[in-house]
Amino acid sequence: MNGLHAAIIMDGNGRWAVARGKSRPAGHLAGADAVRRTVEAAPSAGIDILTLYAFSADNWRRPPEEVGALMRLLRRFLMAETGRCVENGVRVQVIGRRDRLAAALVREIESAERATARGERLRLRIAVDYSARDAILRAAHRLAGSREPGRETTREEFSELVAGSPEQRVHDVDLLIRTGGEKRLSDFLLWECAYAELIFTERMWPDFGAADLEEAVGEFRRRERRFGAVVPAAASGGAYAAAMAGPREIEEPLPDLAVAMLP
Ligand code: FPP
Repeated sequence: MNGLHAAIIMDGNGRWAVARGKSRPAGHLAGADAVRRTVEAAPSAGIDILTLYAFSADNWRRPPEEVGALMRLLRRFLMAETGRCVENGVRVQVIGRRDRLAAALVREIESAERATARGERLRLRIAVDYSARDAILRAAHRLAGSREPGRETTREEFSELVAGSPEQRVHDVDLLIRTGGEKRLSDFLLWECAYAELIFTERMWPDFGAADLEEAVGEFRRRERRFGAVVPAAASGGAYAAAMAGPREIEEPLPDLAVAMLP
């Protein structure tokens, strides 16, 4: 897989609905249509991994009716879309906790993941009951329980711990899009977004479509990614080239700066 990893914070469903005199769940329903449009448009926009923030660990604080509507919508989406995902080479994976989800939803998630496991055109990752800080904390706990004394853990190894399993491991996020006009990360993919380009748009999620996705990818491509190095021409063979060649992390130890800076 050589395409981009795009992650989207799908914000604005509630405001979109209220502005039209509808209920907030109606906004989420319209948001599910935007999910379909975005998934369809992703491969031709050069995206091969799409991670969508559908329900955060903090969203449990919303009114029970809204939580219930969102959970039902997720289940129905999986039931309705799994067949089309199989036909179109879309592999579905759900990230986040499952122990607080209803058994029927967990069954639907497992069934969608199994049915679509061979999909290679697009990896669609849906974050449900997800918290990046919890994922990092769990990784730290696992590391503490398994660490060999004296051996340093690499970023690559820790990334796998954050992902939870080798199957869930994907390369870092290239571009993070947030709709709805707010400019924050809201506990989404904090480890994986270390060098992500951030793109914020005023567009409310239910209005988001193929043209918006292409525009975001266009803006991403116009940006110069340096991964902490200097401009590409001055760094041939250096950190920039290593970072661009992927694996996208620079694993070589950095020079000891205190020593390197001595005259
Ligand atoms: C944030 O908007 C959106 C959510 C918490 C839910 C996102 C869910 C969907 C787009 C639909 C289902 C998803 C899938 C993958 C089928 P908000 O409600 O906070 O909007 P507001 O800021 O305008 O109140």
